[in-house]
Amino acid sequence: MKRNWLVGLVGLLLAIALVACGASNEDGASNGDTKESKETLVMGTSADYPPFEYIDSSKGDDIIGFDVDIANYIADELGYTIEIKDMDFSGLITALSSERVDFVLAGMTPTEERKENVDFSEIYYTANHMIVSSASNKITTPEELEGKKVGVQLGSIQEDKANEIKDGGVGMEIITLNRIPELIQELKSGRYDAIVIEDTVANGYLKSNDDLSGENLPNTEEAGSAVAFPKDSELTEEFNNVIKDMKENGKMDELIEKWFAQDTVE
Ligand code: ARG
Repeated sequence: MKRNWLVGLVGLLLAIALVACGASNEDGASNGDTKESKETLVMGTSADYPPFEYIDSSKGDDIIGFDVDIANYIADELGYTIEIKDMDFSGLITALSSERVDFVLAGMTPTEERKENVDFSEIYYTANHMIVSSASNKITTPEELEGKKVGVQLGSIQEDKANEIKDGGVGMEIITLNRIPELIQELKSGRYDAIVIEDTVANGYLKSNDDLSGENLPNTEEAGSAVAFPKDSELTEEFNNVIKDMKENGKMDELIEKWFAQDTVE
């Protein structure tokens, strides 16, 4: 009986000691003197873009993907930690030029127009434009978009492409939305006749949606993805060096294999 009491007391004292210890540790960390602190870089992205960046709700609510792995690898190499900020794709350039984010990794294509406001790394992955339509009502050429309702992502180069086709004389209605999954939904429900998105992203949806069909836009210049930075950021060169290493040491191929050989996207 007495022994039990003693065991209880010791346990209680231990618990108090642990709590006290935890508290003092926390204090230490907040003063920044117990942990060696790495500089945190804020990455802007639009997590609507599997397999580049997206949330797989069956696995959790973290943003995952090809771009996230690239960012983590580069950060590790350079000794930074990364914090991800999710926003609409159309807001990313402004987020960079107002320095609310340190860099953007969002499958973003380096265009002349964007280069007026931001700097880009080397291209790390190339892509083409694709017309995605319903399998039962296939649209395979830009001319067939005549009279159709066509969805594109707001602020994307696919929006520019659709406008170019329209200006070239194909009468169609172009509708812009912020998020790729919404475009897919509108297409699947028949509210749109087609959408124009990147083949690298379309392929994932095509694999898991038999009711959709995709066709690459003919005669278009290849597009690609690069990291974007605020103008004159020192990070551009640092990142470029690591991207170059990744292309040489097989890391980039390994990540391409990991993310683009997958066969399902909801
Ligand atoms: N590559 C295209 C562009 O730069 C589309 C990128 C869209 N990215 C995204 N995370 N939604 O315009």
